[in-house]
Amino acid sequence: MTTDFMREAVRIVIEQREKNNVVRPDLIHLLMQARDQKLKFGDFDRESEVNTVEEVSYTPNWTHDDFVSQCAVFVFGGLDTVTNIASFMAHELAINQHVQVKLREEIESILNDRDGQSVTYEDIHSMVYLDQVLTETLRKWPQAIFIDRVCTKPYDLNVDGRVISLKQGDTIWIPALPMHRDPRYFSDPEVFDPDRFAPDRRDDLGDFVLMAFGIGPRLCLGNRFALMEIKTMFFWLLTKFELTRSDKTQHPPKLGKSLMIPEVKDGYWLNLKLRK
Ligand code: HEM
Repeated sequence: MTTDFMREAVRIVIEQREKNNVVRPDLIHLLMQARDQKLKFGDFDRESEVNTVEEVSYTPNWTHDDFVSQCAVFVFGGLDTVTNIASFMAHELAINQHVQVKLREEIESILNDRDGQSVTYEDIHSMVYLDQVLTETLRKWPQAIFIDRVCTKPYDLNVDGRVISLKQGDTIWIPALPMHRDPRYFSDPEVFDPDRFAPDRRDDLGDFVLMAFGIGPRLCLGNRFALMEIKTMFFWLLTKFELTRSDKTQHPPKLGKSLMIPEVKDGYWLNLKLRK
């Protein structure tokens, strides 16, 4: 039923755009162009991160289901990930009250600076501690526990003096969660410590150890949007409420096994107390 809904919704949008010659600078338009082989690599500004064009244009005979599945990845990849990370962040803030207090101080300093004016995109973007808290949440609870790649050419990987020969077509899994919880890369990995991402400590972090949004040209397409969405949500949530643990809060949380992404087995429970 969900599949039929997606098929039909995408079909209607495509039909309306074709019939009425509607052009919007969005994913559907890019996919329509790719389907019709009208995209050429380099049509887009590299800075805009529309960098999958070369690969998309290799796919000459798209079925409607190919089209729909691209749209489905966009929708579902951007929903559970954001809600789960926001839930884990609320959980960690309820448990780690000192972090919540420090984050609220940063929020209040922005509100004071603004003096009743609307808070802007730039304000949220400038918040260093908020960024640290969210990055630490993404480290401890990465939604993709591994990322995968297919080898496009043979390659010898040197692992601790042992050579692993990869063939074209081999799939490799890069274990993001184990890396994020490995004390060689993050000391006391079970501790929720946003200060490990303080600007003066960032240089101590190794390269390629934080994989919450993946890596390289196939890095999460929605990462900046997701960060801004979650930061904005917490800006206002902490302005209005105090988050505290409830009788049902489970810490450390037990994870469910039904999904491939980490989520708390019995749900996320905490108290919201309205601030004066
Ligand atoms: C906290 C939220 C999110 C997390 C943790 C997350 C994480 C990821 C990860 C790990 C990948 C794989 C990257 C790789 O293989 O290197 C990915 C891919 C992707 N994500 Fe996200 N994501 C989030 C939010 C979003 C949102 C909001 C959108 C859409 C608006 C989105 C759209 C995509 C798409 C389209 C891909 C595939 C990119 C490609 O293959 O070129 N994601 N995401």
